[in-house]
Amino acid sequence: MELLTINNLSKSFGGVQALTDVSFAVAAGEIVGLIGPNGAGKTTCFNLINGLLPPTAGGIRLGSTEMVGLPPYRRARLGLARTFQNIQLFGGMTVLENVLTGYHLHQQVGGFTALLPLPRVSRAQAENRRRALELLELVGLGGKEDEPAEALAYGDQRRLEIARALAQQPQLLLMDEPAAGLNPRETEDLMALMEKLLPLGITLLVIEHDMTLVMGLCHRIVVLDHGEVIAAGAPGEIRRDPRVIEAYLGREEDEP
Ligand SMILES: Nc1ncnc2c1ncn2[C@@H]1O[C@H](COP(=O)(O)OP(=O)(O)O)[C@@H](O)[C@H]1O
Ligand SMILES: [Mg+2]
Repeated sequence: MELLTINNLSKSFGGVQALTDVSFAVAAGEIVGLIGPNGAGKTTCFNLINGLLPPTAGGIRLGSTEMVGLPPYRRARLGLARTFQNIQLFGGMTVLENVLTGYHLHQQVGGFTALLPLPRVSRAQAENRRRALELLELVGLGGKEDEPAEALAYGDQRRLEIARALAQQPQLLLMDEPAAGLNPRETEDLMALMEKLLPLGITLLVIEHDMTLVMGLCHRIVVLDHGEVIAAGAPGEIRRDPRVIEAYLGREEDEP
């Protein structure tokens, strides 16, 4: 079943046509890679999907719900979470507090919890804390819950951003270059973590340049170049596609 359906999506910034007639779909349970050279329009595509930017034209459905026109928090409540190319954490908060902000998306709606009797509020908070600690364990940050987020090493900040996104209980997680800045060992850990998310019912759409991750993990790959989809298919097909090699993979193909 299609979870995300992108229909003829276009975006221009003044004279810059960042995306032109982009269409693709992501089925529930898939890991789909979105690749392409710098400036191809990948991050713009994510900004349109999560509602940071309005498209110039086109549609974006999550399940059967059209999301164009909905603000980001509504899309998040429908089951969409995201991590950013440039990590975005709350610097003044601890690791645990960063994760807890993810739960508030569903819970502090219109001051709802403020109306609950206090014992129920503290029970809900204790439950959130328990689940947040579980998520920190899952991403490999167990024991670091009380550290200030900004004191974490770079690779750990990336994991924390993932944990916070998971706290939103997404159906679909958009990851923008999650392996950027990671060493090969950390990238391996990241891949193992991503594989653990599928059985939890989380579908992944991943922008990434690291071909070990893309080719090793993605079930399907969509290739953007100059704002257009130039290929889509299984890793083996994409690797051999002459247009993809010319636009993007050429450099890697030079290896013996
Ligand atoms: N907010 C913006 N305002 C103007 N131009 C933008 C904006 N965001 C992206 N662009 C332009 O859109 C094109 C695609 O950028 P981007 O989506 O960041 O590419 P990628 O993530 O594939 O490297 C680039 O030419 C970029 O300069
Ligand atoms: Mg980008």
